[in-house]
Amino acid sequence: MAGVLETTVELEEEILRLKKELNAVILAHYYQESEIQDLADYVGDSLELSRRAKETNADVIVFAGVYFMAETAKILNPDRKVLIPDVEAGCSLADNCPADLFKAWREAHPDHIAVTYINSSAEVKALSDIIVTSSNAEKIIRQIPEDKPILFAPDRNLGKYLMKKTGRKMVLWQGTCIVHETFSERKILELKLQYPEAKVIAHPECEDPVLEKADFIGSTSALLRYVQSSQDKVFIVATEPGIIHQMKKSCPDKIFISAPSDSGCACNECPYMKKNTLEKLYLCMKNQQPEVTLPQEIIEKALIPLERMFEMSK
Ligand code: 13P
Ligand code: SF4
Repeated sequence: MAGVLETTVELEEEILRLKKELNAVILAHYYQESEIQDLADYVGDSLELSRRAKETNADVIVFAGVYFMAETAKILNPDRKVLIPDVEAGCSLADNCPADLFKAWREAHPDHIAVTYINSSAEVKALSDIIVTSSNAEKIIRQIPEDKPILFAPDRNLGKYLMKKTGRKMVLWQGTCIVHETFSERKILELKLQYPEAKVIAHPECEDPVLEKADFIGSTSALLRYVQSSQDKVFIVATEPGIIHQMKKSCPDKIFISAPSDSGCACNECPYMKKNTLEKLYLCMKNQQPEVTLPQEIIEKALIPLERMFEMSK
């Protein structure tokens, strides 16, 4: 419990007061619970949030997202305080790509360029040549000379999707997102029978059979833009359902159906993203911790491939 603050309204008021007091900016990812999204200064996908972090003048960055995102904000702002509501807000992709194994993989492919998805630890970023997100990966890969072999980590589904889109062969790290791999092609097809007019939209972290059924594939922001500009009225959304909050807000007359997992459980919700709550957001601002800190050497090394990403995605 957050002490004497018991209602959502009280928590929200205190968060806004602390935001002023600390001269803080609150950045939230689309997969955060809706109350957090509504309080944030900016809600966005990984690329937009890292751009916001890069441009901020705030003294404190409160990152309502997962740990690799807050780490990225710290790499871009070594002199600012970066807070995260729950340090255990990890990511299956980042967690299953440990730096020592990644280093050995790189060493086994000395002539390859290492293109690494932003869903990775700061240590892995520091060992990489270029960072990409799901919104700029295709554009960046197309700029890599044809004769340069590529290592892509850690998401094999995004990697496979990019190979198809660009025609480039890449050696893939075999990681997956525990949320996006659960979407069921069979259940999506059943939903299509029920709603024949529905468009299927999917994040590229989904497995191949789901992506093959999709009418549109893109990052969280790209999915949001797609539903906003589409003439269609019904969408089956194959990504974490947190994004539906913004979809409903900007398109109240449209219908959004969350793509189900095979078992029918709530495993299409990201358990890491959902570790952050309004109460933990308040407490992290009140106590100014958990704070994200990184060794200076990692910050300096990880900044290089991140800056390359910003340069190549202009
Ligand atoms: P986006 O960059 O599309 O927001 O994706 C982040 C993520 O973690 C998807 O699972
Ligand atoms: Fe990581 Fe998947 Fe959660 Fe995104 S949805 S933060 S890729 S575990």
